[in-house]
Amino acid sequence: MISYEKNLFIIEMKHSSYVFTGGDTPWGVYWGEKLYGEELGYLVGKREHSSFDPDLNRHREEYGFWDSYNPLESCLKVNYPATRQLDMKFQDYTVQTEEGKETLTLRFRNSYSPLTAEVIYEVYPEFDIIGRSMRLVNEGDTVVIENLKSAAVSIPHQDKYRVRYLSGRWTGESHINDHYLTNGAFTIQSRTGNTGPHFNPAFALDNGKADEKSGNVWFGLLGYSGNWQITFERTTFQDVRVLGGISNFDFSYTLKAGESIRTPVMTVGFTTGGYGAMSRTLHAFENRHILPARKTGRVLYNSWEATLFDVRAESQKELAKRAAGMGVELFVIDDGWFGQRHSDKAGLGDWYVNRDKFPRGLGELITYVKELGMDFGIWVEPESVNPDSDLYRNHPNWVYRFENREPLEARNQYTLNLSKPEVKQLILDFMTKLLGENRDITFVKWDMNKTLTDVSAGNTETDKELWYRHVKTLYEIWAELRSRFPHVEFETCSGGGSRVDLGILRYADQCWPSDNTDAYSRLAIQEGFSYFYAPRIMTAWVTDASDGDGRKYERPYSYRFHSSMMGMLGIGADISRFSEETLEEFAGYIAEYKEIRETVQYGQQYRLSSLRESPLHAVEYVREDGEDIVIFTFHQGFCHDAVEPRVYPEGLEPDGVYQVEGMEEKLHGSTLMKAGLETGLGGDFDSRMFRIRRV
Ligand code: GLA
Repeated sequence: MISYEKNLFIIEMKHSSYVFTGGDTPWGVYWGEKLYGEELGYLVGKREHSSFDPDLNRHREEYGFWDSYNPLESCLKVNYPATRQLDMKFQDYTVQTEEGKETLTLRFRNSYSPLTAEVIYEVYPEFDIIGRSMRLVNEGDTVVIENLKSAAVSIPHQDKYRVRYLSGRWTGESHINDHYLTNGAFTIQSRTGNTGPHFNPAFALDNGKADEKSGNVWFGLLGYSGNWQITFERTTFQDVRVLGGISNFDFSYTLKAGESIRTPVMTVGFTTGGYGAMSRTLHAFENRHILPARKTGRVLYNSWEATLFDVRAESQKELAKRAAGMGVELFVIDDGWFGQRHSDKAGLGDWYVNRDKFPRGLGELITYVKELGMDFGIWVEPESVNPDSDLYRNHPNWVYRFENREPLEARNQYTLNLSKPEVKQLILDFMTKLLGENRDITFVKWDMNKTLTDVSAGNTETDKELWYRHVKTLYEIWAELRSRFPHVEFETCSGGGSRVDLGILRYADQCWPSDNTDAYSRLAIQEGFSYFYAPRIMTAWVTDASDGDGRKYERPYSYRFHSSMMGMLGIGADISRFSEETLEEFAGYIAEYKEIRETVQYGQQYRLSSLRESPLHAVEYVREDGEDIVIFTFHQGFCHDAVEPRVYPEGLEPDGVYQVEGMEEKLHGSTLMKAGLETGLGGDFDSRMFRIRRV
């Protein structure tokens, strides 16, 4: 419920309250466990320190229009020819209610020009989550924006402030990091034009004592797939403010009369239940409010690691036959099916079917795959081009480039300037042709294998808008394709997990979290991923990884499957080499996964134990109805005197009676949760899946 009383906006959610003042510079009074928000008036008054700090409440500003005073990061800063200062006055507010969501919009108007800012709170009371954003509407003279943030939130005073966030790199994405705030600013960001592999736009903040099961956690995710920034500022007065939005770096945006711009949404929330509750809340929220649809995820086969660029009708058919025999439901061909694409050096941008590889076109393979009872999917990378391609030879000025030098090549490719209408049209046209002529393509893996560089179209006035326009056009293209082809599911991939965020996930059904498909490395990547993103989104393939790289690792197939079954199971191994026996073994695991996938993809996830803290890694999933439970356990760092680890399930009904598969006796939930289960794990790379059913 949203109310406004005695100059206080009070947002009451299921378990939490969010309270801030009205006025021209609203500031955050309280955010946390539910209380009587309307009583908080006694905390509101002028706070000043000296002529150097005349208004400490500004340190807790809810938005932050730069009006010539604010010592902290501000949310909006603009330039008019005659002034750089805004003078925003609060006008009015509206509350809109729809199912599961209430929207509060505060309107501010600049005193000297018809510029209106709508500060928007999309409240999801069931989830204790608020989506924060701002829309700027210009009805007057041209104004240049040089800083555009979605929102700021203030954290109540704590003894300590620990920021938990994901950091990594290509093939090592989503690793959990902790940072304790001292006075000053701490920023995580992307300047690479995509969401980036180095940081993910998400955070959890606590007092250093929260764990998986308990503790107050404030969290947030920015829904933006371009240059972004989340800054945590702790002041000498112990105010802590988190501010997120489009990065200030190399950014400016010109808003002409009649134009408007809406920031990305920064989704923030609060829980008293520790990191575990945070993740479960986010997973359920994403499934319900962010992802385009609720659809049981199909088991896919992707031929990338088996054939690399050598995608040929005949050999793909062979793979397809074997995949179908194993129970795969979706057969996906990856890079290499088009143009003169025989390696990453050429052909990208030439989106015609390579006739040497597919003499009878794609249709032949698609029909074959359909006849085997599988769906068909395909890989594309529409934003990039190899210099060695017809597209580039015909349109060298369609890529980002500064006038005075050749653009940087990475993976032998350049990036197309999506803000050019011709480029947007080209992408829409070839995708429409591909999906229109082949109605049986029901899955697209959309890749992007280079960071944006040389972001220029030769116009110093408007070049700094291109970072933003790239992302905006990308979203427009995805929205258009989704509406033209509602039966097609999309996967977001960017050289692994460099484009995973709540912005692209409004259009994508799932994502590829990392090119690292080693089942052991994946445990850490998947753990970090699971902090903020639902298992339904997380594709995980069983591959040959780490068999062939010269370093022999022991990864039994059971271990590989258990690791990949924790999300959206896929197969990426070279199954053409497999014996009948191995194919059967794979078929067995795939059948098992189909039985549990509803529980894994849409259930409540509990991280029971982590390799970061113990030799046991264990993750549990409880189906939405509580009837079916799956626990994956893995063992690592085994030594001679090790004690066999026990696993303690969570989320069961204490008085409910459960049957653990393979055990004779039936046990109460309380018994299982308190006394635990012997894992029976014998040593490194041993794993076991438990199935428990409520009787
Ligand atoms: C990226 C992806 C891989 C694969 C290759 C193809 O690296 O992450 O899965 O699609 O591109 O070139």
